Amino acid sequence: MMKHPSFEFDRRRFLGLAAGSVAASAAAAPFAAFAQTAGDGPLKIATIGAGREGGTLGTLFAKQGHPVMFSSLHPEQLKELVASAGPTAQAGTVEQAVQFGDVVLVIVPYTAVEEIGKDYGRALAAKQLVIDVSNPIARRDGDAIVSWVAEQGGAGLATAKLLPGAHLVRAFNAINYLRLTADAHRPGEPVGVPIAGDDPNAIALATRLIKEIGFEPVLVGGPAMGKYLVPGTPLAGEHTPAEIRQIVATLK
Ligand SMILES: NC(=O)c1ccc[n+]([C@@H]2O[C@H](COP(=O)([O-])OP(=O)(O)OC[C@H]3O[C@@H](n4cnc5c(N)ncnc54)[C@H](OP(=O)(O)O)[C@@H]3O)[C@@H](O)[C@H]2O)c1
Repeated sequence: MMKHPSFEFDRRRFLGLAAGSVAASAAAAPFAAFAQTAGDGPLKIATIGAGREGGTLGTLFAKQGHPVMFSSLHPEQLKELVASAGPTAQAGTVEQAVQFGDVVLVIVPYTAVEEIGKDYGRALAAKQLVIDVSNPIARRDGDAIVSWVAEQGGAGLATAKLLPGAHLVRAFNAINYLRLTADAHRPGEPVGVPIAGDDPNAIALATRLIKEIGFEPVLVGGPAMGKYLVPGTPLAGEHTPAEIRQIVATLK
């Protein structure tokens, strides 16, 4: 497969920003001219995958008043989730959700991402933002896909190949769903969410949405840095924004 120019993203540029104690909100500032999509009105948000992580994240967005469509292979099983997420939530097929969303979150076992790319890649590429929450996990997805992802340079670059042209931001990959609701809007210092992407508009929009649900996004770099946004790396789990910036400075 051809190498996309964005894969050559300059990580040092981002580390320079990080070293200057710049969280994503501020890191997005140079992109302000592109940030017209990051206003403050409701956005239609779709989740592909509505399990533990997708159900919880979608609910947080619904509680902020965004229209949310949860989707899965079995949308008829999502009635309880929809009821608990509130009046702005609904469920649909994946096709309906892709059609519905201004923003789409892909929150599925990693083995499903390729199929989603084949079936809906073109439609996803037309969205302002696709948030990539999915992780390749050997015990669930198998060793072969984990090896393939590593060969691509990690999950950020791998997802970009599977969803070509999508305006991707990787986020929320290693905050356990059981912690999300309590972490959101926690008193005191917010929980930082490391994010990786290279599309200024998408980063600005992701920044806005992540802040709205009570976290502080921290831009750690382009898609190549997505390899650190998986469970089991120093960035995994819950950290303050300052801790995330310190960890990023140590990553090779
Ligand atoms: N659990 C966490 O704490 C956590 C944290 C961060 C990131 N993640 C990542 O988020 C992803 C989902 O994890 P999870 O724990 O939420 O899994 P989960 O509870 O098993 O939910 C998976 C969801 O994906 C749907 N799905 C599976 N294949 C699909 C396909 N081909 N098309 C559309 N939907 C499909 C499932 O639908 P059906 O139920 O209808 O089959 C289900 O709604 C994983 O990549 C995981 O590594 C999880």
